[in-house]
Amino acid sequence: MNFKIAVLAGDGIGPEISVQGVNVMAAVCRKFGHTVEFRDALVGAAAIDAVGNPFPDETYDTCRNADAVLFSAVGDPKFDNDPTAKVRPEQGLLAMRKKLGLFANIRPVETFDCLIHKSPLRPELVKGADFICIRELTGGMYFGEKVEGDDRAYDTNAYTRVEIERILRVAYEYAMRRPRHHLTVVDKANVLASSRLWRKIAQEMAPQYPEVTTDFMYVDNAAMRMIQEPTFFDVMVTENTFGDILTDEGSVLTGSMGLLPSASTGESTPVFEPIHGSWPQAKGLDIANPLAQILSVAMLFEYFNLLDEGALVRRAVVASLDANVRTPEIQVAGGRRYGTKEVGEWIVNYIENCK
Ligand code: IPM
Ligand code: MG
Repeated sequence: MNFKIAVLAGDGIGPEISVQGVNVMAAVCRKFGHTVEFRDALVGAAAIDAVGNPFPDETYDTCRNADAVLFSAVGDPKFDNDPTAKVRPEQGLLAMRKKLGLFANIRPVETFDCLIHKSPLRPELVKGADFICIRELTGGMYFGEKVEGDDRAYDTNAYTRVEIERILRVAYEYAMRRPRHHLTVVDKANVLASSRLWRKIAQEMAPQYPEVTTDFMYVDNAAMRMIQEPTFFDVMVTENTFGDILTDEGSVLTGSMGLLPSASTGESTPVFEPIHGSWPQAKGLDIANPLAQILSVAMLFEYFNLLDEGALVRRAVVASLDANVRTPEIQVAGGRRYGTKEVGEWIVNYIENCK
């Protein structure tokens, strides 16, 4: 394949981990005879500083003309405590999602056996947990009508049938491909009208997928079940806001937030990015874990059905963990603390030299 990849490094640790993802992608392409051309584009605070817009038109064009986007992170503390700021880095991310029609956000929650002791849950609870959260990404409260007055403000949690059907279809297709064929639809149908429409449509669609066991769970209960019995879940689908909250919970269950990649897909170019944010305090210190970014490259290959390429990236990541080539937050007691660059270089080297 001849890949054209838009590289949106963004803010904080973004640029440092981005380079490692790019290097790994280039190494795998060399190994398998693909060509790849990377185009950098501005996003987030970096784009506000440069051109006053967190998702400039030029970036949009670069994304649209690419096969995939390798995204890193946006966010900068100078905007966080200023509710009057007119533009914010996060708006760049939301604009990208909306303009590229990225309605399906796929966030796998996977455990690595050698990191289970880092989980806030007891190992016996979390061992074997392996589920995918499918979060609707372009609807709901994030994009519904908003009024922001001094004495009254509201956000509207609107969903249309079309929006619900297409995300449920993605979820059912994932559930069909997984051995357990189990789909949990997470909502708040005991209170919210929008949730009742989700539930109604899911009930209508369920008979089209007889192999899949569909169950429904209220979001508060799901938040609890995820820490009580995370192995219950296989594929979970939910609306934008609930998905935002539950995926943060999911990302720490495995003990390794720095290891979880994600994919956002929909109508235009798909985006692959780590789940974690821009971690501004670590910027420039060469301590950030590049593995989530590198695993995003695995998801990218898998999206294009290049399964051997994806598997090689995953194998290289596991090999680096087994060799204890780890960044500080996951290093074993007394082990050497490797830098972002060293971990990336080790993985590139593994890919180049493996049989
Ligand atoms: C996420 C993030 C974003 C979201 C923020 C940065 C706007 O938390 O991708 O989960 O709320 O969707
Ligand atoms: Mg979030």
